[in-house]
Amino acid sequence: MRILILGSGAREHAIAWKLSKEIGSQNVYTAPGNGGTQLCGTNVDAKFTDFESLSHFCLQNDIDTILPGSEDAIAQGVRDFFEANDETSHIYVFSPDQYAGQLESSKSFAKAFMAKENIPTAAYEAFTKDNVEEGYAFLEKLDAPYVLKADGLAAGKGVLIINELEEAKAALKEMLVDQKFGNASQTVVIEEFLDGIEFSVFALTDGEHYVILPEAKDYKRIGEGDTGLNTGGMGAVSPVPFYTDELKEKTIQHIVEPTIKGLKNQNLNFRGFVFFGLIVVNDNPYVIEYNVRMGDPETEVVIPRLDESFSALIEAAKKGTLSTKVAKAKEGYCTTIFSVSGGYPESYDKNKLITIEQESETLFHAGTKVEDDALYSNGGRVLAATCFGDTMKDALDASYAQIAKVRFDKKYIRTDIGNDLKKYIK
Ligand code: AMP
Ligand code: GLY
Repeated sequence: MRILILGSGAREHAIAWKLSKEIGSQNVYTAPGNGGTQLCGTNVDAKFTDFESLSHFCLQNDIDTILPGSEDAIAQGVRDFFEANDETSHIYVFSPDQYAGQLESSKSFAKAFMAKENIPTAAYEAFTKDNVEEGYAFLEKLDAPYVLKADGLAAGKGVLIINELEEAKAALKEMLVDQKFGNASQTVVIEEFLDGIEFSVFALTDGEHYVILPEAKDYKRIGEGDTGLNTGGMGAVSPVPFYTDELKEKTIQHIVEPTIKGLKNQNLNFRGFVFFGLIVVNDNPYVIEYNVRMGDPETEVVIPRLDESFSALIEAAKKGTLSTKVAKAKEGYCTTIFSVSGGYPESYDKNKLITIEQESETLFHAGTKVEDDALYSNGGRVLAATCFGDTMKDALDASYAQIAKVRFDKKYIRTDIGNDLKKYIK
């Protein structure tokens, strides 16, 4: 396998790291990559949505597989582009096509898919500017808080949770009529609020068969106690201690199996990853959202825990032999803690010199770049320290010790990753 990974985050570094051990770093490329991916292969100087340049690169370098890290390339049709061109159609793009990618890029598409397959999720209705009055009436029928979702991709900002009815109505008008999120909010999904604890489950699939990867819980907000603005993720833990055998069975039976069957029933050109964003209410799992790629920062703990060849799983999907595979997970806990630039996710500085007192292979890079042999910050989220432990506490202690050895001006970390999970550990 010679693979091109699309993206530049710690997720892509974790994937490149695992693959380079399995197939050799000479066969691993990342576009555009970061200061970490270049240690596991070669960075390619191309935007991951510049499909024209990427296809030239793939042909010149005998790339046979492409793995999109984030949703952007999928939503812009990377698989469709490569398949439509005779010269590049032999390249296996491990993702859904643009239409099937709507499971992530359109909330109303995902909700309609779930309704058809009877998959447990919050009750909902979708509205456009032509029936905004009906939207107000629907809000009046619901109890607070009100959940409003821009239909399209809105960089993680398109979901509003509002306590007051009048405010919710005003927000609906802003989204539909004033186009608060541009095209992304031409349709708005309003749904019932689910009160519970969230976690993530991942399936690697060829569209018919699947293996389940280790589950994880991520921490999205910037502040301690999960407060403040949403971020790209401040840390993650795997396994999830409240994911009991019973909950796992319910998740597989009521969510994972019907989803994979639904992909086929609804003739979706799907392969790659299904990321189930789940919430547990009264011991039952519900889907909050689907993503059609791996999670970040979940990948930084899921991939290291995978006690299986990742490239062999992708090859099996390609050859149609995934039904013979399982994805065993390493025992113990794996945790990751992100260091971010002070001010993130609002304004922050880049180009800060980074020093790392003690290197580790699983110190995954996100916003970093190398210049004149020195490492500099190049984004809001900078480095994620992934460590193992026999217990969650051991893993967290190791991750915190590791991230303490990373230094740059105005570094910020959340110090409470995993605290909410302690009560589930006997
Ligand atoms: P989404 O982009 O759909 O994952 O929504 C972003 C976040 O909003 C989720 O991670 C949840 O924390 C929250 N959220 C979304 N939908 C609901 C819901 N129906 N009930 C409660 N919280 C929700
Ligand atoms: N960790 C959430 C995401 O990747 O969207």
